[in-house]
Amino acid sequence: MEQSRIRNFVIIAHVDHGKSTLADRFLELTRTVERRQLREQFLDQMDLERERGITIKMQPVRMAWKSAEGEEYILNLIDTPGHVDFSYEVSRSLAAVEGAVLLVDASQGIQAQTLANYHLAKREGLAILGAVSKIDLRPQYLKEIRDEMAALLHSPSENIAQVSGKTGEGVAELLDAIVNKVPPPKGNPSQPFRALIFDSYFDPYKGVIAYVRVVDGSVRKDDTLYLLATKTKNSAIEIGIFAPELKPTDALHAGEIGYIATGIKEPGSVRVGDTITRFVPPSATAAVEPLPGYRDPQPMVFASLFSPQADDFPMLKDALGKLKLNDASFTFSHTRQEMLGQGFRIGCLGTLHLEIIKERLRREYGIEPVITLPSVKYRAMLQNGETAEIPTPQELPPIHEIKSIEEPWVKGAMLAPPEYVGSLMMLLQGSHGRATHTETMGREILISFELPLAEIIVDFYDKLKSVTRGYASLAYEIADWRPGDLVKTEILVAGRPVDAFSRIMPRSSVESWGRATIEKLKGILPRESFPVPIQAAIGTQIVARVTIPALKKDVTGHLYGGDRTRKMKLWKKQQKGKKKLAELGMGKIEIPPSVFFEIFKASSSAEYRSK
Ligand code: GTP
Repeated sequence: MEQSRIRNFVIIAHVDHGKSTLADRFLELTRTVERRQLREQFLDQMDLERERGITIKMQPVRMAWKSAEGEEYILNLIDTPGHVDFSYEVSRSLAAVEGAVLLVDASQGIQAQTLANYHLAKREGLAILGAVSKIDLRPQYLKEIRDEMAALLHSPSENIAQVSGKTGEGVAELLDAIVNKVPPPKGNPSQPFRALIFDSYFDPYKGVIAYVRVVDGSVRKDDTLYLLATKTKNSAIEIGIFAPELKPTDALHAGEIGYIATGIKEPGSVRVGDTITRFVPPSATAAVEPLPGYRDPQPMVFASLFSPQADDFPMLKDALGKLKLNDASFTFSHTRQEMLGQGFRIGCLGTLHLEIIKERLRREYGIEPVITLPSVKYRAMLQNGETAEIPTPQELPPIHEIKSIEEPWVKGAMLAPPEYVGSLMMLLQGSHGRATHTETMGREILISFELPLAEIIVDFYDKLKSVTRGYASLAYEIADWRPGDLVKTEILVAGRPVDAFSRIMPRSSVESWGRATIEKLKGILPRESFPVPIQAAIGTQIVARVTIPALKKDVTGHLYGGDRTRKMKLWKKQQKGKKKLAELGMGKIEIPPSVFFEIFKASSSAEYRSK
């Protein structure tokens, strides 16, 4: 179809504002999927997504639409993953389209993520159509919310569409508005083939399937292709469109969205953001320019995984290898810790990403590893002028080699009703962050802030929800690296550091964190026949200490009557034995995996709600 009849767009929204439900109505109205086949949230393909009601990945879809004027159009809807962990993928999805529907739940109003998405879409130069959803709920502040959106988009309130994904009201009008307001693609059909990869997945038979937006030229089945960033030659063994299931076609042309099965069996070779083009032998000169914006995914959050049973280690290795086929953005490498044995250090884009990997290991492979608390990647500036990346505290060089330690910071925005501003300011301060700007936005206050990423991945989101009774929303992006007064805190059990408990943190947090951790350990570590000290320390400096008392054993119980001297003798012997045991036992305590599970289970699943 001619480019003038194509419209490519995304729907962007805060979590739960009705994106998937609206997409269902699009599918129904355009007869892309028959009503009887339509399950709720049809485009959410993974079980995990349906159960949690979140979109991790929505299938792109091509729809045919006859406008109110009777003209035929092709509408391509592609998804944005929505969560900050995947913000690079979001920006690539946005780069593959010309328009965005900015959807706001009319019973909730504009949220922080609405604004973040809006700014991303604006940065990509998209035509943005405002729409309020869930109007069937007869929301109280419908007019105010439309006015606020109109102010944000600099357009009249009447232009803000009103839809219900439940009843279908207003949905046809919205499709017509998309046709009228989103510009058609502007690629050059006679230029050499160039396409942007905005997503991919691994198929055991066809290799990596790249989801592409054709920018210039066209591609046919069996063409020999080339990936510019990863310099990989491949063959288009199948090409096609999203119906929404993969439907083979003969060719894809400029402006179209579809897929290319590349036959590539190494998933790392096909990266989101790369440009795919026709292979030109090195002697020919007609090389094409890469499309803008390719970058490698950068894991920012790290954790170590251990299988509770040593025998399961090969299974864990195999499972991670298979997961990586469908997710090139996480890394894993072998690690070993004294108490936990063999394991893997994994690097993810954020805590939601880590949670997804953990959940997939459980569901798809039946593995429930011990996972250490996630921590961010640090950077150590060394005395010798070098910079060392520190993905886990164990990798921090000795203190005397370090000049300073830097950590990643985020910049973001929170939106909340005015009465919570004071609590939010205190929360920011208590989390080593600061507000940079505040302004009134409709009925709410917008607070721009800066904060160490480490604070976000611990419990910032939970605290935010609790101090505002759920009324605040949050959006952020990774900003830069900054030096901090950071130290490595170790937990010593019976005099020996337990690597899995080590953390890098601000010096001012060491004491309270150390105390909380050792108290928690005291409560769950099994008792020994001798007293066991548990300490929190920075290097050789002990900052907190508790002792687990010895298990009491009644050594005189078998003695009947009042022979005091014999009892004393036995007690003395027991004391001596305990002392010896304690000396021997120092450093020989076995910590069962259940203790690690217990300590680490605090790692929150709250991020699921924080899109
Ligand atoms: P994520 O996939 O997590 O991003 O959420 P989403 O934006 O796709 O929202 P989703 O479509 O999953 O809807 C969230 C909840 O709102 C679900 O319980 C829907 O049934 C409900 N919902 C969505 N649209 C409407 C609507 O128009 N009216 C009413 N009454 N409920 C709606």
